[in-house]
Amino acid sequence: MAQYNQVSALLYFQIASRSGAFLISLFLLLSNTKHRAMFQVFRPWHKVASTLTLFCAVPFSTAQQYLAVNWSSTTYGPDGPWNAITIKVGGNQNSSNIAAEQVSVDLLVGSYYASYIPSSSACRPYGPQCGTGGEWDPDTSVPSSSPPNIWDAPSAINITGTVYPAAVTIGSAEKQQTVYDVDLATINTFSVEYPNQKTAAPELGFFALNSGNDQNAQALNYNKDGVDPWIVAGALYNQSIIPSYSYGLQIGSAALGYGGSLILGGYDKGRAIGPYTSYAGYSATLLDISINVETGSSPFTFGNASGLLINTLGQPDSLIVKADPMPPGLHLPAQTCSALAEKLPIYFDQATQYYLWNTSDPSYEKIINSPAYLGFHFTPAPGDNANVTIKVPFKLLNLTLTSPVVSSSVQYFPCMPFDIPRGDQWRLGRAFLQGAFLGYNTQTNTMWLAQAPGPGASNQGLGYEPQNMSNSATTLDLSNDQTLFAQSWANHWTPLNDSKPSSSNSTSTSPITTSASFNKSHTGLSGGAIAGIVVGVIAGVVIIVAVIIIYLLTRRRKQQPFQPVSQQSSEVSSSMQHKEGHASERDAYAAELPYDHQIQEMPPHAISKELPVPEETHELDST
Ligand SMILES: *[C@@H]1O[C@H](CO)[C@@H](O)[C@H](O)[C@H]1NC(C)=O
Ligand SMILES: *[C@@H]1O[C@H](CO)[C@@H](O)[C@H](O)[C@H]1NC(C)=O
Ligand SMILES: *[C@@H]1O[C@H](CO)[C@@H](O)[C@H](O)[C@H]1NC(C)=O
Ligand SMILES: *[C@@H]1O[C@H](CO)[C@@H](O)[C@H](O)[C@H]1NC(C)=O
Ligand SMILES: *[C@@H]1O[C@H](CO)[C@@H](O)[C@H](O)[C@H]1NC(C)=O
Ligand SMILES: *[C@@H]1O[C@H](CO)[C@@H](O)[C@H](O)[C@H]1NC(C)=O
Ligand SMILES: *[C@@H]1O[C@H](CO)[C@@H](O)[C@H](O)[C@H]1NC(C)=O
Ligand SMILES: *[C@@H]1O[C@H](CO)[C@@H](O)[C@H](O)[C@H]1NC(C)=O
Ligand SMILES: *[C@@H]1O[C@H](CO)[C@@H](O)[C@H](O)[C@H]1NC(C)=O
Ligand SMILES: *[C@@H]1O[C@H](CO)[C@@H](O)[C@H](O)[C@H]1NC(C)=O
Ligand SMILES: *[C@@H]1O[C@H](CO)[C@@H](O)[C@H](O)[C@H]1NC(C)=O
Repeated sequence: MAQYNQVSALLYFQIASRSGAFLISLFLLLSNTKHRAMFQVFRPWHKVASTLTLFCAVPFSTAQQYLAVNWSSTTYGPDGPWNAITIKVGGNQNSSNIAAEQVSVDLLVGSYYASYIPSSSACRPYGPQCGTGGEWDPDTSVPSSSPPNIWDAPSAINITGTVYPAAVTIGSAEKQQTVYDVDLATINTFSVEYPNQKTAAPELGFFALNSGNDQNAQALNYNKDGVDPWIVAGALYNQSIIPSYSYGLQIGSAALGYGGSLILGGYDKGRAIGPYTSYAGYSATLLDISINVETGSSPFTFGNASGLLINTLGQPDSLIVKADPMPPGLHLPAQTCSALAEKLPIYFDQATQYYLWNTSDPSYEKIINSPAYLGFHFTPAPGDNANVTIKVPFKLLNLTLTSPVVSSSVQYFPCMPFDIPRGDQWRLGRAFLQGAFLGYNTQTNTMWLAQAPGPGASNQGLGYEPQNMSNSATTLDLSNDQTLFAQSWANHWTPLNDSKPSSSNSTSTSPITTSASFNKSHTGLSGGAIAGIVVGVIAGVVIIVAVIIIYLLTRRRKQQPFQPVSQQSSEVSSSMQHKEGHASERDAYAAELPYDHQIQEMPPHAISKELPVPEETHELDST
């Protein structure tokens, strides 16, 4: 009994501190049905406790140390490209040859509740792109249970699955570990509805990091069938392999060949530049969005811009956002996207329903290749004074839509107007996290956000420098050298030299040539002959450049830069109805839940919309 008390006290403390429902928690603790649920929730730890003794005898389990996770060399779309991690799953503690029973799967980082892995049957209704990250068909003879549905509103991903306790082997060449009895969810059905209402299956599954206190609360609240929702980092921590139930994540940039970094029980100091900001829980206060240039002159006619974070009423405002690796884009008010579209060569494309880059606008390449960035301004960490700006270079926001969203690939800008359900949150998804570091420590409920460096000299940011994170950590040890940001991007962007356009505006496409020539003419060497030669050279260059531009323009026009996709309308109307049919049910959940995502019971409960009290009441009602 003693071993339950510690964990249950922790869980209940966390729930109580989140929702202030300590008395209800106590009641649940004392009620018979809840006792049963509690036992079911923690059942695997009986087994874990016995394996724990096993682990202690094995030489590799010495001191608790961070665990760095492998990243795949394959990248994934169709709205990326995105980096994914690689783990091995299958078998369990009694397996005679666990290596033979395990399959390697690539997973996107970010999930709620449990890690979800495609099964071969889930992919049967879909084309060959489904499950390209690997499939797992669990040993169905072991006890299983249905976890709740996952419906992720910003990415419109809907997953149903079945939980099986299984072994996971995770780590990197440096060190890897096998943990047993991790609850893995095999995906039974899954779908994504893209903004243009094309429905498809994801290419790969999702790896749950830790949803912190939400996770624990949901584990108890939604687990009525004796599901044991526990996840990899939790199991590693429980088995004293990593020093804390925490992680540090920086997903890098697949397009630039900049791999990701995921460290469980620690973080990579080479993937973050201070000062960071931090919050209690996952919600961050985003003060503003700006456009600026790190070094050199601006590729924009306006130099810089701020006040671009616009609320749904059309006013500049600060918003509560969640940094969340599950959805792909910047899921913000439509008004914010419009404000950005007024400043950037992007436009809302009706066919795809995405903001596309206008690749035929001459400023497009200039912006993407310059040190210009989208700045996200956050409130300071507790005790600090200065706002924290996370700069996401436009190079990272030149993302690609591919099949099945579109038939031929196009470049898109990831601002995605989010029709936010009640109770949900604005998200800064994977596109943002390419340029940011995200860390979280469950025990202290501390979330960190910091500037991520660019690829650096060896596509490792500032260089691999893993750190342990203690269970009580509320701070990170980062370098505050602001120049590291520009240094780490130096090989990937080209600062613009001319601060003012040359006086001869006909040569504006080659300002470097002209300014260089003008400097020369001021050196005093310039006799009439030299001046004549200079003018001749300039004129020659201008003519050549003009000829090249005209040639390129006519050629592009002939080629048609992108082809709008004709959506397959036959599926649209039915999927629309389908969606609407569930809308009210989802809203009801959204009204109930303080969380930013919704987990649906199978079968769904009837929920009274009138109750203002969150899920604890719902829990009582349903028992
Ligand atoms: C691991 O889980 C067991 C069983 O629930 C619990 O008794 C133990 O305290 C946990 N260990 C840690 C370090 O959380
Ligand atoms: C992490 O902790 C382990 C065990 O205490 C220790 O051996 C290792 O040196 C630590 N690593 C770092 C980078 O501090
Ligand atoms: C492993 O084997 C033992 C003894 O045969 C059995 O009691 C236990 O349930 C098995 N565990 C699993 C996960 O199959
Ligand atoms: C999610 O998929 C399941 C199974 O296909 C379906 O029953 C459910 O209605 C879907 N939910 C949403 C919100 O689309
Ligand atoms: C991680 O990568 C290393 C080196 O490629 C490999 O030996 C190891 O098996 C991988 N581990 C996992 C869990 O995929
Ligand atoms: C934006 O541009 C104005 C005018 O050039 C300049 O005064 C200001 O310092 C710039 N702001 C930032 C944050 O760079
Ligand atoms: C793209 O940019 C070109 C050049 O500035 C402009 O003529 C064209 O109208 C733009 N296209 C869209 C769709 O905005
Ligand atoms: C935008 O991304 C695409 C695909 O990665 C790439 O081919 C293109 O060169 C990029 N554009 C610029 C201006 O870098
Ligand atoms: C932080 O940003 C807010 C809102 O933009 C602003 O009012 C405040 O002055 C800023 N604080 C500092 C220290 O710059
Ligand atoms: C800008 O000037 C520096 C030195 O003055 C030079 O090294 C660099 O190549 C120039 N940039 C471009 C885009 O020409
Ligand atoms: C071009 O330059 C001339 C003279 O320097 C100036 O009068 C004119 O306004 C400029 N045109 C543009 C479009 O900047």
